Amino acid sequence: MVNGFTSGDIPDYQMSAWLMAVVKSGMTKPEIADLTEVMLRSGQVLSFASLPAKKVDKHSTGGVGDKTSLILSPIVAAGGLYVPMISGRGLGHTGGTLDKLEAIPGFNVNVTTEHFGRILKECGCAMIGQTAEIVPADKKMYALRDVTGTVESPALICASVMSKKLAEGIDALVLDVKTGSGAFMKKLEDAVYLAELMVETGVRMGKRTAALITDMDQPLGRAVGNATEVLECIEILRGDRHPMSEDLRSLSIELSAWMFYLGEKTATIDAGRSLAEEMLTSGKALGKFRDMARCQGGGDISVVDRPNRLPAATHTVDFKAATSGYITSVRCEDVGLASLILGGGRSKKEDVIDHAVGLFLHKKVGDPVQQGEAIATILYNSDARLPEAMQMLRDAYSIGPAAPAVKRPLIHRIIEGD
Ligand code: URA
Repeated sequence: MVNGFTSGDIPDYQMSAWLMAVVKSGMTKPEIADLTEVMLRSGQVLSFASLPAKKVDKHSTGGVGDKTSLILSPIVAAGGLYVPMISGRGLGHTGGTLDKLEAIPGFNVNVTTEHFGRILKECGCAMIGQTAEIVPADKKMYALRDVTGTVESPALICASVMSKKLAEGIDALVLDVKTGSGAFMKKLEDAVYLAELMVETGVRMGKRTAALITDMDQPLGRAVGNATEVLECIEILRGDRHPMSEDLRSLSIELSAWMFYLGEKTATIDAGRSLAEEMLTSGKALGKFRDMARCQGGGDISVVDRPNRLPAATHTVDFKAATSGYITSVRCEDVGLASLILGGGRSKKEDVIDHAVGLFLHKKVGDPVQQGEAIATILYNSDARLPEAMQMLRDAYSIGPAAPAVKRPLIHRIIEGD
């Protein structure tokens, strides 16, 4: 079925019917494993066996302000492992690593697999878009799923994600499966189910795999957008400690620690954490990020050291609290959509992203707030949809007389292979 569809022998309407049957009926685990394997083998499976250290990657199911890839790739490369990362673009309300990287003037994510290998060898990390040779079955199936309402199946998501990650020639994989109001899997049990499927698939294919179920009930860090998010990553890489970015920094360290552990660089997660901290505080991770921008850019890499050269919006306005109290909850998906409609994401595939627009957030859930105090600063170039974005933020943030009694953890659960 998959091979016939990829070669064009099986038409879209038959594949659509099969995809919908999977959405409705699910698949058994052996079926998911077979599907992943046949998709993986539909194209080139990379091998970087000649490189002298393990190859590890991380995949996130996506969220708002989720920018850990830009921080952990250079951390892990600086720590001595290789990170061959093939990433995606923004999907719905969630941002995409490729769109963020393209906010750096001249940064090129469209490179051949051969060039990918050269960058990896020279820099230790490379972050690119899917090439024509890698998992062509997924390229075609995903495009069809997108227009037939068949994205949501855990079986199809597992096969789609894992086939692409396994094609990177990695030894180990860390999965960051998000749960909460800004995640695709809003309920914890759905996130756990998907995580277990993906971990089992990775292990069955001989890769050390683990999943962290992490919180996406409010945006991660202080920035949402593209250039805004790159700026926040550079701040963390150069050692700035902003209170609103502590969750992002902690999660980046935690995911890096798991990458070091699964990549057999450290014997324990604790040792992985220490190594990640050292790579950040020593400036070595920032150096790797600079190297990668040079290898993949040829453009203005001075933005790494002078982030005020990143694309800047022409206007800013504060979204202010209507009453005093505490932030009790955030409808996180709406915060992502507010950035999207200002131009930070795509409503249609062909939309062009405005890298400069986005949000800087000033409050987390549980923080006290005074009437008239800024909850977020909106960066925009056109005011055509500004009132709509402002209304979305107004609806997204709830203020009450007391902070929530229970604070949601940053990491809900860990699912280890083996
Ligand atoms: N991202 C993917 O690459 N595939 C899916 O099926 C869903 C999200």
